[in-house]
Amino acid sequence: MSFPDAAGALRALHEAADYIREQSGNFQPATGIILGTGLGALVREVDVAYTLNYEDIPHFPLSTVESHAGRLVLGTLGGRRVAVLQGRFHYYEGYSMAQVVFPVRVLKLLGIGQLLVSNAAGGLNPDFRLADIMLIDDHLNLLPTNPLVGANLDALGPRFPDMFAPYDADLLARAEAAAQALGQGLTTRRGVYAALPGPMLETPAEYRYLRTIGADAVGMSTVPEVIAARHMGLPVLAASVITDLCAPGQLKPVVLADIFAAAAAAEPRLTALLRAVVAGL
Ligand code: HPA
Repeated sequence: MSFPDAAGALRALHEAADYIREQSGNFQPATGIILGTGLGALVREVDVAYTLNYEDIPHFPLSTVESHAGRLVLGTLGGRRVAVLQGRFHYYEGYSMAQVVFPVRVLKLLGIGQLLVSNAAGGLNPDFRLADIMLIDDHLNLLPTNPLVGANLDALGPRFPDMFAPYDADLLARAEAAAQALGQGLTTRRGVYAALPGPMLETPAEYRYLRTIGADAVGMSTVPEVIAARHMGLPVLAASVITDLCAPGQLKPVVLADIFAAAAAAEPRLTALLRAVVAGL
């Protein structure tokens, strides 16, 4: 799938949104949620109304990552209508940026008013511990490109969107208040997320460099979706689960199973947190 022009890209987005409306009795989600690596459990909290497989939605890319389900779940969470993307698309899978952000743009056409995003990330801040939850308060886009390169989709947003506050201050405050209210050790961190293309993890020198330039965590996702969301004016809340420790002195070889284990350890807390945030919107 490639989009030669803005009109073609918009048509594809509308065809996908129209299909979802047809299949879901015109379900109108209020909040969009993207679930990251090993963080799919939130779906079990959703009172599911409709489940659509990505492969059935026109123009939707197909998920190639085993840990990502590839389903759009529509339902209610904490009394609020949500659209949950269970499975996301990464640049390292070979997708274009337009494909990576296609689902987020479709959710916006369906009417979401804010976007919640989760991911698994390596911790660079030496104070972080395994399975910590870091609320992202800024990012460094170190991917080779971004989804706004090319013809601007004027119907979605401006050519030069502002990036003063990519992560919404109100949503951040709500998330921190919700974490406090939940108690039981549900502390959150705040920090800067650096997005790199992957799929290899970083070298020790790269981790040192990332820390030097101000990153608290590093991963392979999220930033494209956030850029697309901000282009469309959507407020964003994003949370990283720290799945491996990469600060100098803490770094050791990582196996994927360790990343999944840390994500699984954090999953109940992240699920409770996102649920509480959504319920309070
Ligand atoms: N680097 C990049 N992406 C990641 C990491 C990491 O250390 N951990 C989880 N996702």
